[in-house]
Amino acid sequence: MTDKTTDNKTTGAKDGEKSLTIAEIASFCKSTGMVFPNSEIYGGFAGFWDYGPRGVEIKNAIKREWWKTFVQERDDIVGIDGTTITHPKVWIASGHVESFSDPLLECEKCKQRTRADHLIEDTLKISTDGISLDEVNKLVRKHNMKCPSCGGALLDARKFNLMFKTHVGPVETDSSVAYLRPETAQVIFADFRQVADISRLKLPFGIAQIGRAYRNEISPRDFLFRSREFEQMEIEYFVHPDKTGECSYLTKDILMQKVRIYTEVAQQESTDDCVMTFKEAMDESIIKNPWLAYFLSQQYNWFVNLGIKEENLRLRQHREEELAHYAKGCFDIEYKFPFGWKEIHGMADRSAFDLTQHMAYSKKDLSIFDEETKKKVIPCVAAEPSQGVDRAFLAFIIDAYTKEEERTVLKLSSELAPLKVGVFPLMKKDGLKEKAEEVHNGLKKYMVSFFDVAGSIGKRYARMDEIGCPYCVTIDYDTLEKDDITLRDRDSTKQVRVPIADLKITLLKLLSKEITFGDAGKSI
Ligand code: GAP
Repeated sequence: MTDKTTDNKTTGAKDGEKSLTIAEIASFCKSTGMVFPNSEIYGGFAGFWDYGPRGVEIKNAIKREWWKTFVQERDDIVGIDGTTITHPKVWIASGHVESFSDPLLECEKCKQRTRADHLIEDTLKISTDGISLDEVNKLVRKHNMKCPSCGGALLDARKFNLMFKTHVGPVETDSSVAYLRPETAQVIFADFRQVADISRLKLPFGIAQIGRAYRNEISPRDFLFRSREFEQMEIEYFVHPDKTGECSYLTKDILMQKVRIYTEVAQQESTDDCVMTFKEAMDESIIKNPWLAYFLSQQYNWFVNLGIKEENLRLRQHREEELAHYAKGCFDIEYKFPFGWKEIHGMADRSAFDLTQHMAYSKKDLSIFDEETKKKVIPCVAAEPSQGVDRAFLAFIIDAYTKEEERTVLKLSSELAPLKVGVFPLMKKDGLKEKAEEVHNGLKKYMVSFFDVAGSIGKRYARMDEIGCPYCVTIDYDTLEKDDITLRDRDSTKQVRVPIADLKITLLKLLSKEITFGDAGKSI
């Protein structure tokens, strides 16, 4: 183990620097029309958020990039798109009906319900991951905690199941109860037989899905971080049960990659996270299964390649007592949010838990025939990369959000930018508008181009900077004479002249990072 890193509570603001708050990010997203409260005309609806025109483009780009990296560019992972309401037995078999709950405290006086672990975290500033009801009750009594709303006494903690219930069909009885899925994963397990047979993949292979999930969170908070309806991008990666210790994708380069890890021991001893290689983490039995190491590296690098700063990312090992009911081991990828280090990605070793459960409850054979041993085996999910789309969105926005002296700029990577280019005539008159329209029309088949004539050029640049548009094109009087334009770079604000004939190809090369802005044209 090497290099101790920062403390685990702060948000990274340097002395004298005003730290960013989640309220500021929420207000920025609202003012730019990216994300706003659902049903706002009725006062909003806690835990539900709608994405506006720019937001939906960014969100779709996140999903597109993930699908491209983890499904389309791989031969060993296939995708599905299942329903959000499934047969209720799925959730009995999976253990969610029994165990998918959070600890809840109710006020004796005003009946307000509060999430127990959040109240303890907020009051005592300690981590409560995996806390039991007994521990909650002891802490509540010891520290004389009261209802945050009216100061009344709190009743004993109890479990609150997070699944949304509904009824299927015209008659509402106990037997018509169904659940909105709280994770996309179970649909993959329920469809396993079909997908395994139809795709004719040999172990090891993965099944991926992107889709909505619903959790009746006791206290949704921190903007998109904890909502009641969100999207997940998940892979169940199935491995031969005798081969969970071998992963041929784990190359030397991956093993030697350094990452910041907050180990179980460091959490128990209240010490810091530290930087180590995946190899060191495996040699020290911190990461116990090579598939976890491999997929952690892939997901971590996906974030870094799309622009998240490494200093804002770390891996956190789950402590034994906080493991979910299905998990043999688990890591989170955490992001340094304005409210502290929090999970953006969960990566569990689910072993053969789910397939075994579904075999028992459905009485269907979910095993795979192993050609080598000529025996049937139940595959193990050696790694389940589980990524929340909305938490990824939030992390990308926070990381890109930059306040400069005279402007607010969203330094999003070009892949995620909602608009790729803004096209502006300097003036509306003298044929400049028509020329700009011609340029815009020529580009929009190849990239998302935005045409704007309203306000000064400075104002138009500022609007593009704020929503992360990487390039702007200005058509001026020289354009009419020389058939070239001014191309402006969002991050540096530098400008170059580019012939209109070369503009499309230049922009495409810039967007795909084939060239840098310095090589895009003649400096001015
Ligand atoms: N299938 C495993 C699973 O669902 P999880 O850690 O409960 O694991 C995975 O969730 C990811 O889903 C989280 O890392 C987070 O990104 C996202 N997520 C979970 N609950 C969420 C919520 N209430 N609001 C927004 N995103 C959430």
